[in-house]
Amino acid sequence: MNIVLFGPPGAGKGTQAKELAKHYTIPHISTGDILRANVRDGTTLGIKAKEYMDKGELVPDEVLIGIIRDRLQQPDCKSGYMLDGYPRTIPQAEALKEILATISKPLDVVLNIEVPDKELIGRLSGRRMCSCGESYHMMFNPPLKQGICDACGGKLYQRDDDKEEVVRQRLEVYTAKTKPLIDYYSNMGILVNIDGTGSVEDVFRQICDVLDSHKK
Ligand code: AP5
Ligand code: MG
Ligand code: ZN
Repeated sequence: MNIVLFGPPGAGKGTQAKELAKHYTIPHISTGDILRANVRDGTTLGIKAKEYMDKGELVPDEVLIGIIRDRLQQPDCKSGYMLDGYPRTIPQAEALKEILATISKPLDVVLNIEVPDKELIGRLSGRRMCSCGESYHMMFNPPLKQGICDACGGKLYQRDDDKEEVVRQRLEVYTAKTKPLIDYYSNMGILVNIDGTGSVEDVFRQICDVLDSHKK
């Protein structure tokens, strides 16, 4: 299955992608995670990307297109892929179409996870991360021990771009540059809206229903 998980910052793309990757055994490709790994490792790409990420701006298209082109050619994508956080602009979507045509793996479905802005701000400001990749929410998905990761015992921290001013900027950038992709994929007939306001399990079940009906 070839899937894009689409939605505004905080919609639950990463949370759902993790579960879906396990359930369907397809690789979860998060451009945000790839960029953050580069920031952590201090690579040239990471140093450049951090300037944009800390301001809540998009990293330039050509950088992301290069990342995705390389990643989709890895052998694990032969059985399918799940993109999270890409594409985010029309040029990124156009480039994706070309890349997918060359590897003969066209998109099956774009899942648009819908959550109102007010709820997004609450989700992002309460999010806490662990360096092992787990993410939590202080109210909606708290760890067993406050500030400590259930999975590895690591210390939880807040993402630099989850500060309130940056969150607002990310939402504005989403509306201006990314939201137009809803029409783009809707016109292609592959967009499916998912109500992202229920519990993590509710949303997961909705998505599985859509994906299972596509498989048949
Ligand atoms: P990225 O990492 O992709 O961030 P984002 O799109 O802003 O999305 P988030 O990761 O913040 O939200 P999510 O939808 O994954 O939500 P989550 O599951 O964590 O990108 C970061 C930056 O990198 C960008 O700003 C940009 O600079 C750069 N970048 C990345 N890709 C790029 C691209 N293609 N082009 C250009 N630049 C790019 O959930 C959020 C919180 O809510 C968590 O605490 C979670 O526990 C909680 N939660 C989840 N589901 C529920 C639920 N159902 N009910 C209650 N709480 C829930
Ligand atoms: Mg995410
Ligand atoms: Zn951890």
